[in-house]
Amino acid sequence: MKILVTGGLGFIGSHTCVELINRKHRIVVADNLSNSNIETLEKINEITGVIPDFHQIDVTEESKLEELFNKYDFDGVIHFAGYKAVGESVEKPLDYYYNNLVSTIKLSEMCLKYNVDKFVFSSSATVYGDNKSPLKEDMKLLPTTNPYGETKAISERILKDTAFANTDFAVSLLRYFNPVGAHESGLIGEDPKGVPNNLMPYVSKVAKGELDKLYVFGNDYDTVDGTGVRDYIHVVDLAEGHAAALENLNSGVNIYNLGTGKGTSVLEIINTFIKVNEVEVPYEIVERRPGDIAVSYADTKKAEKELNWKAKRNIEDMVRDSWRFELN
Ligand code: WQD
Repeated sequence: MKILVTGGLGFIGSHTCVELINRKHRIVVADNLSNSNIETLEKINEITGVIPDFHQIDVTEESKLEELFNKYDFDGVIHFAGYKAVGESVEKPLDYYYNNLVSTIKLSEMCLKYNVDKFVFSSSATVYGDNKSPLKEDMKLLPTTNPYGETKAISERILKDTAFANTDFAVSLLRYFNPVGAHESGLIGEDPKGVPNNLMPYVSKVAKGELDKLYVFGNDYDTVDGTGVRDYIHVVDLAEGHAAALENLNSGVNIYNLGTGKGTSVLEIINTFIKVNEVEVPYEIVERRPGDIAVSYADTKKAEKELNWKAKRNIEDMVRDSWRFELN
């Protein structure tokens, strides 16, 4: 199929581009490079031997989207482009609501206008709020603790309502848990601009000496060792999940957790990173981070059954691949 991948040079977008190309899909990347690098295009070529068509555009701009949908006869869209820093969203809510919601609305309008009937959306486990794990797709969503999470919940609602009103328009809402790791080549990976918000890139930079120590946000949670527990999923497993969702998308509204179903604590991540990569990761226990929940992990039965997809890579693979990318 011919697929528009918005945010296709980002962390998850670039890994999904590689997977789609490997599966012989033709892809077109739209990315405004606000949190990604143009070099990633060449890295995708090095890995796959294919240079995707690339357009440096902001997917909130209707005129730019019109040109794109006019030029290509897309079979589907995978929408990754969006701001995704929880803390930043609290400081700049209007930027987040505008960018993340207008991009979803404009892309949906273009799909209806140009009869593009498959829309895969990058959602997040954050939309569950503080529901109790294991988190299931049919749970009632609870308010999230930040504008970023709300933009994901509202975008899901926009796409659901649009699919209900237009029976030819099929959507797949993919709720990621905690994406980590990198492609085995070490050529692409998580490379956030500035100081990382997320745990794994922060640990990698401490191990490399770019940051002096990791601050562990609380060890007084009701968990195996008091630190936060999350469902870390290898980004290549996540990419394979997107390809499976796209290839199985036929009609209506489809919602899937993309996780491993297993929870891992912060200290377990640190200790595994140290053991597997034979490095030091100095850390200090500090206060909890506002808005954090204690435990989050997925019920993965629905994606396994309906998409015939299951995450294959384990925590050792994740820390090994993260470190290889950091060294590159
Ligand atoms: C993981 C664990 C922290 C950093 C968020 C978003 C989610 C998705 C992934 C975008 C927690 C602890 C972290 C640090 C720490 N975002 N931690 N020190 O908060 O689970 O999820 O990122 O796609 O939508 O909500 O991820 O990596 O920030 O935190 O102790 O320096 O690591 O307390 O327990 P989180 P995270």
